[in-house]
Amino acid sequence: MSNWGAFSLQLDGLQDVIANEEISAYADLTRAIGAELGRREGPGADYLGWLDLPQAMVGPELQRLEDAAERAREDCDVVVVIGIGGSYLGAQAVLSALTDRTSGPEIVFAGTHLCSTGLSRLLRDIGDRDIRLCVISKSGTTLEPAVSFRLFRTLLEERYGAENARRRITAVTDSSRGALRTLADAEGYDTYVIPDDVGGRFSILTPVGLWPLAVAGLDVRALLEGAGDMSVVCENTVQEANPAHLYAAIRNGLYNKGYTTEVLSTFHSDLGYVQEWWKQLFGESEGKQGKGIFPASCRFTTDLHSMGQYIQDGRRELFETFLVVDSGVPDLTVPADPGPDGADRNSDGLAYLVDRSLDEINRKAFEGTRAAHIAGGVPVISLEMRTLDEWSLGGLLFFFEKAVAVSGRMLGVNPFDQPGVEAYKNEMFKLLGKP
Ligand code: PA5
Repeated sequence: MSNWGAFSLQLDGLQDVIANEEISAYADLTRAIGAELGRREGPGADYLGWLDLPQAMVGPELQRLEDAAERAREDCDVVVVIGIGGSYLGAQAVLSALTDRTSGPEIVFAGTHLCSTGLSRLLRDIGDRDIRLCVISKSGTTLEPAVSFRLFRTLLEERYGAENARRRITAVTDSSRGALRTLADAEGYDTYVIPDDVGGRFSILTPVGLWPLAVAGLDVRALLEGAGDMSVVCENTVQEANPAHLYAAIRNGLYNKGYTTEVLSTFHSDLGYVQEWWKQLFGESEGKQGKGIFPASCRFTTDLHSMGQYIQDGRRELFETFLVVDSGVPDLTVPADPGPDGADRNSDGLAYLVDRSLDEINRKAFEGTRAAHIAGGVPVISLEMRTLDEWSLGGLLFFFEKAVAVSGRMLGVNPFDQPGVEAYKNEMFKLLGKP
């Protein structure tokens, strides 16, 4: 077990499949790639600005963002964050994971699809509550958020009048390019910049993530601090002491042995969007040129009753990373079910669980599942977080970003572009008759 403050990695579930020496054999490569990233060189070098964000974001612009977020918290009931892919998943991931720490207006997301059923329902649910918009698009031209923004902007103008509507809109976009930048300048929206050298899926620590999180009352400085602390850890040149290098080495070692799918599994009900963020980060960064580990996710114990069979017993080409949170609060215990004589009636067969906490039961479910999957031939990594807060999540997210940068370059791809995403857009725009 190796320990890095925000989390630890337990690797004994790999023993039957990949030996320590095989992982160590990648040390020269991970060190070389780490050094290349440190010099801001290599494939995609123009998109390495995320490496500096934990420190670079702390300054007057962050203060301006926090002040604006504080004012926004006071003047609305609902904030509609409009964005897709990297322009919403980071904020959604942290918000969902830290739901119990949020306060202030409800935060909802739009622009994540083109389905009128969902969008109509969202508009209905918002009803006549006071709203604000935060529209986020780096390119400023993405169809899904642009369509949603037009719908919500129309609603705002009808409700508050053009001038007051403008004051209820925040835009996060490129410094100079794109339709959203043009519109934001023309309308005078409160606007924040996504740096040129930060791609969408690496943008959680820019205003893309920080504005919605600050409005939700979360401590964005602690998030940055956690990422900053982890960035130092992830510079270590010794592979065993660098979680990003170690994880990248294991993933590539397994991939080279034919394990082409990674399942990120969790037993925590609030980590679903961390899994979604992770899938985008790894899928878009590595899936190119006919290569890449397919990132999948499972939420347990729910999915043990759907995907459990396949993981246990299907094609042996997947490995599993368990994302575990050690402390479960608030905790529930299984109540007694006393009969007339005071003894537990045990009519449901649960007497053996009386007074035991759900957290303990869930933990045993994890341990049992882990043991079963290892026995079934699944290589297993366990990533255990001791706390779930802004600091630890900042560390976790930065760790994954650094890991995918190293892992993608080990695979021989540029982890920072996404040329494949254009294919569906081109076909769709042709069909829609876009000029
Ligand atoms: O990671 C990426 O670059 C993408 O997922 C984008 O974030 C997504 O396509 C949205 O793009 P934009 O912010 O330009 O609207």
